[in-house]
Amino acid sequence: MNTSVTIAGIEFKNPVTTASGTFGSGMEYSEYVDLSKLGAVTTKGVSSVPWPGNPTPRVAETYGGMLNAIGLQNPGVDVFIKRDIPFLRKYDTKIIVNVVGKTTEEYCEVVERLSDCDVDLLEINISCPNVKEGGIAFGQDPKCVEAITHELKKRAKQPIIMKLSPNVTDITETAKAAQAGGADALSLINTLTGMKIDIHRRSFLLANRTGGLSGPAVKPIAVRMVYQVANAVKLPIIGMGGIANAEDALEFIMAGASMIAVGTANFVNPTATTQIVEGIEAYMKKYQVEDINELIGCVK
Ligand SMILES: Cc1cc2nc3c(=O)[nH]c(=O)nc-3n(C[C@H](O)[C@H](O)[C@H](O)COP(=O)(O)O)c2cc1C
Repeated sequence: MNTSVTIAGIEFKNPVTTASGTFGSGMEYSEYVDLSKLGAVTTKGVSSVPWPGNPTPRVAETYGGMLNAIGLQNPGVDVFIKRDIPFLRKYDTKIIVNVVGKTTEEYCEVVERLSDCDVDLLEINISCPNVKEGGIAFGQDPKCVEAITHELKKRAKQPIIMKLSPNVTDITETAKAAQAGGADALSLINTLTGMKIDIHRRSFLLANRTGGLSGPAVKPIAVRMVYQVANAVKLPIIGMGGIANAEDALEFIMAGASMIAVGTANFVNPTATTQIVEGIEAYMKKYQVEDINELIGCVK
């Protein structure tokens, strides 16, 4: 039985990774999850200098999901290189580093710093809805998506994955733009912009007013977008949005995702990722699927 998949020439032992920002660099989870069992670990967004993030409260529970406006808090690329890469290299898993910036120059700086580092792929977050100056401006305009992809591609030694925003009218437009800019793969979806109001305080619940909606509530939207994009471009896709178990993961794979990422589910069930790996294997056994690649995009 073959569970390995290949993206941009990189082979992953199975199609399961973590969704950026929900797993750190795996340190806290490594007590519960054998990181070597995952196809890859995708890290929290890394910026050129440390970012403090947004004021609190910055998370809120919603029906079937959550809102967050963390604001991409992180210690910056220097600390990441020194602390997180050596930690992750102890495990037999691929490393995908999520990159963020407020300007094209900042994205380029991070990519240049990482290009000589021992990491396997770079995932570019051009789609965070919670940073004022940040990714979303790039992520919603196809011309900007193509231009920034092109700039980063010139600098990166690793394959680059562009992470798309669902907060657009037609996600195939930004997907095509990323392809035109030279992207090696796409990730989708990031969170959907939402809002919650505290009726007792008669005020916004999140200090940032709006936040990104994630979790099972967004899954049907994410599956639809993965299907649309898989049929509009030739690039491999990492699918995410509400995946909590193997059945969810298989939906994304059948819609056209070559890999899947587990996000909000990690907060509910810290071992969701490895359970999903085992659940996919059990499905393959049950239906006598010899090779996971047979399932990718099998629903037409
Ligand atoms: C608390 C939190 C932090 C996140 N931080 C990042 C981030 O740093 N970079 C990024 O590209 N996406 C980030 N995301 C988006 C997730 O990676 C993922 O795209 C989204 O949550 C949908 O998947 P899910 O429904 O399985 O969580 C974050 C999501 C959450 C809930």
